[in-house]
Amino acid sequence: MIVATKQLFAHAYGKYAVGAYNINNLEQIMGLFKGCIDSQAPFIIQLSKGARSYANKQMLEAMIRTAEEIFPEAIFAVHLDHGDEQTCYECIESGFYSSVMIDASHSPFEENVAITKRVVDAAHAKGISVEAELGMLGGVEEHVQVDEKNACLTDPDEALEFVKQSGCDSLACAIGTSHGAYKFSGGQGIHFDRVKAIQDLLPGFPLVMHGSSSVPQDEVERINAAGGELKGAKGVDTAQYLPAAKLGVCKVNIDTDGRLVWTRVHREFFKEQPGNFDFRTPGKIFMAEYAKFIASRNELLGSAGELESLRESLKG
Ligand code: 13P
Repeated sequence: MIVATKQLFAHAYGKYAVGAYNINNLEQIMGLFKGCIDSQAPFIIQLSKGARSYANKQMLEAMIRTAEEIFPEAIFAVHLDHGDEQTCYECIESGFYSSVMIDASHSPFEENVAITKRVVDAAHAKGISVEAELGMLGGVEEHVQVDEKNACLTDPDEALEFVKQSGCDSLACAIGTSHGAYKFSGGQGIHFDRVKAIQDLLPGFPLVMHGSSSVPQDEVERINAAGGELKGAKGVDTAQYLPAAKLGVCKVNIDTDGRLVWTRVHREFFKEQPGNFDFRTPGKIFMAEYAKFIASRNELLGSAGELESLRESLKG
């Protein structure tokens, strides 16, 4: 069942975070739904501009609607990840999306507010909620690339002002994470003092954490042992997910780690079976491994086991 993103946030706020997983193809969709049913967790499917162009937005919608029928137990929201203004309007008009993200974080504050407010007005008229971004995460996320020197943490006073002026429903904050597989060179992590300062000024307001992949070192080692060359990749400590959730982080974005599962499965499979050319065999392994990965992330986010309680709260 597709629900409003704000319904998921209302149930999660201060207790757990909802996993927001980037999806591009059939195998990921099947693995995602299975992993969330296995762990009894609500979830958010995120479609980026790149995914909508890679798999065709109509194909993605048809696959997700079919998955909804195959897994009738599932409760989830559909979200546009890192939208520009035009893509936001397209998704708002489509009637398929629960929420959109307008990413105008590269623009100056006033312009970010103005763009976000236009999207909010259009979205709210259709009952859709809007995630906006303030502050700049480093790293690479498809078309968005920010050098570490230009990355900056979200200022709490600005966050308060931004939410007031733009009317957005949730805010992606720069709190120490970055996009992609190469997040940290040393022991950095989430700046909890910053999250707390933002929450103090915006009590009850859902925060979003981008760049939340953990880049598991055993995964990187297995990929490299099977011919990969991922050097010095480091991610977020998964033990930090739940403490962040308790401070109002309701949505945790995970993309890179899913790509690593795909890369490990396929590299190992074709290394071990160089004469094989049936893509369905590694495809099946990937779906099972991705489902396991999703279930493990839901456990760490605290969303595992929340499905029935959410279902009950939606009836009320
Ligand atoms: P990762 O690159 O850490 O998976 O972050 C994904 C993300 O934030 C998508 O918006």
